[in-house]
Parts: sequence; structure tokens; C-alpha cells
Amino acid sequence: MGTKRNFRVWRGDASGGELRDFQVEVNEGEVVLDVIHRLQATQTPDLACRWNCKAGKCGSCSMEINGMPRLGCMTRMSTFTEDETVTITPLRTFPVIRDLVTDVSFNYDKARETPAFAPPPSLAPGEYRMQQVDVERSQEFRKCIECFLCQNTCHVIRDHEENKPPFSGPRFFIRAAELDMHPLDSQADRKEHAQASMGLGFCNITKCCTEVCPEHIKITDNAIIPMKERVVDRRYDPLVWLGRKIFRRDQLEDAAPDPALGVLPPREPAPGEPDRQRPHRGAQAAATDDRGHLPLTELTFENQAAPSPFGDDVTFPLPVEDLNYHHPARDRPGRTPAEAISEVVRDEPLH
Ligand code: SF4
Ligand code: SF4
Ligand code: FES
Repeated sequence: MGTKRNFRVWRGDASGGELRDFQVEVNEGEVVLDVIHRLQATQTPDLACRWNCKAGKCGSCSMEINGMPRLGCMTRMSTFTEDETVTITPLRTFPVIRDLVTDVSFNYDKARETPAFAPPPSLAPGEYRMQQVDVERSQEFRKCIECFLCQNTCHVIRDHEENKPPFSGPRFFIRAAELDMHPLDSQADRKEHAQASMGLGFCNITKCCTEVCPEHIKITDNAIIPMKERVVDRRYDPLVWLGRKIFRRDQLEDAAPDPALGVLPPREPAPGEPDRQRPHRGAQAAATDDRGHLPLTELTFENQAAPSPFGDDVTFPLPVEDLNYHHPARDRPGRTPAEAISEVVRDEPLH
């Protein structure tokens, strides 16, 4: 027989909502997702929550528990004291669809904007051979379960809807780093693409994404910082600098691909197919000077962000009254609250 514990769960949709209090039985060894299931089974059959594997592998059950982005299925109830009220809210960076379910399609849009792996045209399928050392180098990044907790935590977009178009986010920086390390990827320079079209320059290395990654991927240390270092090396290499002096920027960028180097010419997408070979046209390059160079301040922003997106002076769990449930995407241009709700048409009133 378990004990009754106190929970506060956010209930609502894109037009608004509120925290509701519940008392739910909790048994030894249970996780937060178990409690949500018991809540659905006994008190709130219409509580919306995404989950699939209950094993920390599908990345579906991302939520904020006492203000901390976590997987519901990997958060043990023993984490909390018996008299503690556990507050469960939806991811804050993405628009709420209903209750704990958010619209994470921002991440799929960004995935589509990342040019696909492109092996050299001279290699037929089945001829790809990699050394074990090359496999191991990027193996860490392949562990990503696409839970998007890192995306949700990154302060660049957490409270800044306006940064979403030019910023792909940490999950896609590790994808760029992984492909950059891939010996058979012949796409144009991944780190330059990350800098110019994925908003790598927005990241000021706060490491918050790394802190919340359930797969313990060293997003900042092993992907973002090495890419930033190489971008700066490249841009401030004296020979590259000389080349940029001699050639105009457009001459450099429009240089024909060299088949001898195995560089693929861009392929026109089929009608209706997303253009995965080129940077997103709507993306904005990081600010450069009149010579097209990045400022050295790229790695040392004057306005250093706090080491945590929640602020220096915040400890967890946050008091409930301090939690902010406004989802800025509610105001996303071109998408009315009614349209957001209609994506999951559920006519029953909230209880
Ligand atoms: S290090 Fe900080 S700013 Fe950079 S991607 Fe991660 S959370 Fe965002
Ligand atoms: S990098 Fe980590 S936190 Fe980000 S989506 Fe992948 S598994 Fe989740
Ligand atoms: S249910 Fe799959 S990660 Fe939690």
C-alpha cells in the first residue's frame, strides 16, 4: 500500500490554463510517469501526456518537474521528500497543445534545415567503410533520443521567440558536429554552415543544455566548443584572411564544387521535397563586419549569460508561484490559438 502524495499539474491548452492540485497514491520505486498514469486512471482520464517507452529511450515524456526539464519516466519519486508537492508542467519553450503535451515541430523544422549526410558520389552503397576510431568519435552524439530537453532549456530561445528562426539549437549543433567528424560526409563545411545558418554564434556556452541531457552527452564541451574554435581558427587563419582579401566573398562562396575532392554539387529538390542540401533561406547569418568576418567577441560576449537559464540565484525546486507558464509561441505569427488547439481537436471541456 502506497502513500498519498501531493501533486500540482498544469491543465489547459493554447488559450490558457492553471495548476490543479491532486492527491495521488505513490508506491515504492515509482517514477513521475507512473503517477501521471495513476492520475489518468483514477481522477483525470482526459489528462494529456506524451509517452511511449517508459525506459528513457523514446524521448517522448519530456516535461518540467518542479521547474526542472526532465523525462517523466526517468524521474524517481524518491527524488522528492514525502511532504513535498511535486509540480508538473509542460515544456516552456514550445507552444502548449494541451496539458503536458507541447508542439515540438520547431525541432523537426530545424532537422529539415540541416543538410543530410552526403557520401562521396564515387562510393556505391555498401562500399562505405569506416575505421573504428572514426565510429567512436561521433558515437556519443548518436545517443541522442531527441527528447528536446536541451532545446527547451537553451536560454537563446526559452524566452525569446524572435530567436527561433535563426537558431537551430544544441540538438542540431551535435548533429552538425557529428557530420563534421564523419569521414565520408562530403557536404560543404558543416561548422561554417552551423555558424552561418544554424546560429552557432548565438550560443554563449552556458552549458545548460549539457546539464539536462538525459543521455549525458557533453553537448557544449564536445560539440559546440570544438566547432566554435574551428570556425574562429578558419576565419582568422592568415592564409584564409589573405584569400578573402584577394577574392570577393561571393566569388569564394560561388566557387564550383570540385568533383576530384568528392564535393557534391547541390541537387535541386523534387517538387514538394524540403531542400536539405542548402542552408535554410530564412535563416540569418551571425553578424559579421564589413569584411564578412565574425567579431572576436563571438566567444566572449560582453553580456555573459547566467550559468543557468533560470538565473544565478535560483535553486530547485522552484516555488510554484515563481513558475511562468506563458508560452510565447501562443503569439507565433500566422498561428492563432484556435489553430493551435485545432491540431488536437478535443471538444470536451477542461475539468
Ligand atoms: S551552451 Fe547554453 S547557449 Fe549554448 S546551446 Fe547550450 S544552453 Fe544554449
Ligand atoms: S542532446 Fe540530449 S537533451 Fe538534447 S535532444 Fe538529444 S538526448 Fe535530449
Ligand atoms: S516514455 Fe520514452 S523516454 Fe520517457
